[in-house]
This record gives sequence, structure tokens and C-alpha cells, in this order.
Amino acid sequence: MTTSASETVVSAFLQRQPVRMLIGGQWVDAASGKTFETLNPATGEVLARVAEGDREDIDRAVKAARAAFESGPWAKMTPSQRGRLLWRVAELIEEHADELAMLETLDNGKPIRYSKGSDVPLTADHFRYFAGWATKIEGETVPVSIPNMFTYTLREPLGVVGQIIPWNFPMQMASWKLAPALAAGNTVILKPAEQTPLTALRLGELICEAGFPDGVVNIVPGYGHTAGAALAEHLDVDKIAFTGSTEVGKKVLMASAGNLKKVTLELGGKSPNIIFPDADLKWAVRGALTAIYFNSGQICTAGSRLFVHRDIYDQTMEQLAKAADAMRVGAGVDPATEVGPIISQEQLDRVAGYIESGQREGAITRAGGERLGGDLASGYFLRPTILDQVRDEMTVAREEIFGPVVVAMPFEEIEEVAARANQSIYGLAAGVWTADVKKAHKLVALLKSGVIWVNTYNQFDAAAPFGGYRQSGYGREMGHAVLDAYTQVKTAWISLR
Ligand code: NAI
Ligand code: MG
Repeated sequence: MTTSASETVVSAFLQRQPVRMLIGGQWVDAASGKTFETLNPATGEVLARVAEGDREDIDRAVKAARAAFESGPWAKMTPSQRGRLLWRVAELIEEHADELAMLETLDNGKPIRYSKGSDVPLTADHFRYFAGWATKIEGETVPVSIPNMFTYTLREPLGVVGQIIPWNFPMQMASWKLAPALAAGNTVILKPAEQTPLTALRLGELICEAGFPDGVVNIVPGYGHTAGAALAEHLDVDKIAFTGSTEVGKKVLMASAGNLKKVTLELGGKSPNIIFPDADLKWAVRGALTAIYFNSGQICTAGSRLFVHRDIYDQTMEQLAKAADAMRVGAGVDPATEVGPIISQEQLDRVAGYIESGQREGAITRAGGERLGGDLASGYFLRPTILDQVRDEMTVAREEIFGPVVVAMPFEEIEEVAARANQSIYGLAAGVWTADVKKAHKLVALLKSGVIWVNTYNQFDAAAPFGGYRQSGYGREMGHAVLDAYTQVKTAWISLR
């Protein structure tokens, strides 16, 4: 599709009154008739009206998903057929790449260079990777020590899966949830974030076009405390996969108790990024920028605690501040933009509150710190910010800020920095910059986090497992690890006596 053709499709999509939800293969209004607005964070203006799902819509979606799981074409489909459907979704995403990228940039704010260059291709890739797994989910034969017994396991789908996702990578999060669940043969109800429902709904249309049977994928937009809570509590939902704040993750876990549904949680982080004097400093500085400013810092793996060795501290901070000041902040639709807006006024206030708290506790602002004015005053823009002279015990060094704000601290010894890096309720990611392979492996062993990047940062691939230690959550996504979270093991004993 050409750029102008995809712009026409995007504007037609946005003008729907409202954008509807997907239940049982039908595009429907909310049972209540209510709608909500989704905004463009670059302008603060209303982008589209969306059907507002609530308890009754969730219940209808769960019934549709249950029916599709228990009977109907999906239940009888071969793994190969499931794989083909997932592969077809990947192709359709690529065919509609420009349109999806534009929709993502408008709804979430992220720079078009990333929605086009990263979000769309990675979303397609996720479907393609799990298309391959549909035919490779195997049980085992078990060498039991009881004579004349043939014992084997089957890996079966869980059933009806509820999936609740955040606003920071709307399309990618949808693919991380949908693709493995479907590869394993489950049926799903996806609840996108209220700030960014659009690409998940457009993806729903492509899923229908690919030929998924009715009710296999249901997409119900709405708020967390209504639609989200109803899904987490629902007694006929077998599993909830949640990505979002640690606070809400705990609520989801409590809500799961009613029917002991399985839960996997991808939650917050306060990830350390550690630079040693033997690192290639130019790369390390570039890496530190990517670690914190990619997606305006609104990423659970953000390298938000920067530990720099004392011997190179001053020069690193100087280079970092210069590079942060030079970053192009602006509307995501501008191809030159490197850092887009923050998602909402609420998040902007929250992040600004953290900057003030850091300054109150004695941090020095080395870059940024202020909101953008002029043409950008009506959007939620904040300059890339560096807080220096931070101490481990300050609030800004302990709590997830989820914005373009890095706190910097010097260190001296490897054991010291590992201990300080591990001093967190979180344990999602960590970065290490060094030319010394021994230091690298030592830190991989010492750091308590689910992913460690050495001389790189924020790398993701459908084949590489991802998830947290401690209060960053549990369960893994991506790779074959995630299939454990969407299947259950059945053991069969056949007496041969
Ligand atoms: P949130 O955790 O409230 O939202 C994530 C998802 O959960 C959304 O779909 C929301 O509608 C849903 N939700 C909210 N309350 C719910 C409930 N009671 N039951 C079921 N679902 C519910 O995150 P929010 O408020 O958008 O952001 C606040 C902070 O959370 C951020 O500043 C950041 O620190 C953290 N966060 C972390 C993310 C991550 O990727 N780890 C993503 C988004 C936010
Ligand atoms: Mg929006």
C-alpha cells in the first residue's frame, strides 16, 4: 500500500463513530452504549472515540471464547492449520505496515521511525515465530520404574485466556500475548490499555481477515478498574497474562483467587546500567541514551539507574549531557524525531513530580528537566533529563519513573556495584559496558534480573525469553519458555499388563 493510501485508511478508521469492539467474530458497540476518547499525546487532541467495554461485554466475550474453545472449528483445527493462520496474520501486518505504524504513532506518540522500523516488524515477526511453534508443542514419554506401564505426557492448551496490556508498546504487547496463546490452541479476550486501544483493534480486523474462526480472538477496549478488573475476576477465565504496573499486577493476582486461574505477570523495573572504565565510551554513552530515552523512557526495561565508574564519571556525564541535549524531541509523525511525547497529562505530572522530588533531595539536573513550550506546549513533551549526584536511598533511585529521566551515580568496585544494583524490589533487566569478558560474565552471574545486556541494551527477539525476577513479575514471554505459560501437562498411564 502507498503512503497516501494508508493515510486514507487511517483517517477513515479514526472517523468511525465509534471504533467498535470484537466479540464472537462481530464488531459491536458496548452493551451500555458508552464510548471513551483516545487522545493524541503530541497535541492533546481527541484522536478517536472507542466503544467502552465493561463487565457485561467482558462476560459476552468470555462466553464467545469458551464456545470457540470447547466446540466449533478451532477445537478441531490441526496444529498446521493454526500455524498457517498465524503466518497469515504476519503477512497481513506487513501488507498494512505503513498504516499500522501511523496509527501507533498517533495513538501512543512514539516516533514514526520506531513504529515503522521496530514496532511493526517485531509484531509481524512475533506472529511468524509462533506460527512455527504451533506444530512443535510436544509431550514426552516418561521412563517410570513400574513394570509394564507406558507413561506419556500431553501438552494441552489452558482454555480461555484473558490478556491485559499497557500503552507503551500497544501493538507489540498485543502480539506478545496473542501469538503464543493461539499457537498453543487457546482462545483469548484481549483488553488493550485505555490510552492506546487503536492498533489492537485494527490488528483484530486483520486477524478476522486471516480467517480465525469466530470467538477465538475477542478484543474488548475499556478501563482497567472496570473491564480489566472484570476480566481478572471472571470465574470462567482459565488464565490471565498481565503486563503493566506492579501495583495493578498485585490486584490481578488477588482477583485470580476466585477460581485459581493461572497468572503470569510482566511488571515494572528500575534497571541498572553499569559502565566500566575499559568500555568503549562512545558506545557506552550511546547505549546509555538508548537505554533510558528509547520510547521516552516508557519501557519496563529502561536503564534508569546509571552506575558509572568513578575514574570516568566526570567525562561520561559531560558527554551524556551533551548528547541528551542534542536529542530531537518532537511529534512522532516527524521523521526526524528521536524522542516523542509522554503518553498522557497524568504520566507527565507523575514524571515531573519525580524530577522535583529528586531535586528536593539534592540531585543536580545535568540535562532537561523542563517541559517543551512553543508549538509543542499542548502535547506532553519533556526534555531528556539527567539527575546527577543521586544517592541510592533517594526516591528517584528506588521507584520506577517511567519517563525520560535517568539518575546517575559513581561506583568503584565490581562487587559493590553488583550489590547496589541488586538493591531493588525489581529485577527485570540490567546493562553492563566493559571490554573485559571476565567482568561481563561475573556480572551476569551476580546481577539478579531476568535479562542482562552486555555492550548493548534493549534488545528483544521473539526467540529470546523475557521476564522478571522479584517484583518485576513471574513467568516468561517469548522463546519456547512462554509456551509453558499457555499449556498444561496431562500425564497418561497405560497398563500393558
Ligand atoms: P496500569 O498498570 O494501571 O495499566 C496497565 C493495564 O492494566 C491497562 O490495560 C489498564 O487498563 C489495566 N488495569 C488497570 N487497573 C486494573 C485493574 N484493577 N484490574 C485489571 N486491569 C487493570 O499502568 P498505568 O496506570 O497506565 O501506569 C502507571 C505506572 O505503571 C507507570 O508509571 C509505570 O511505572 C507502570 N507501567 C509499567 C508498564 C510495564 O511495561 N511494565 C506499562 C505501563 C505502566
Ligand atoms: Mg491515545
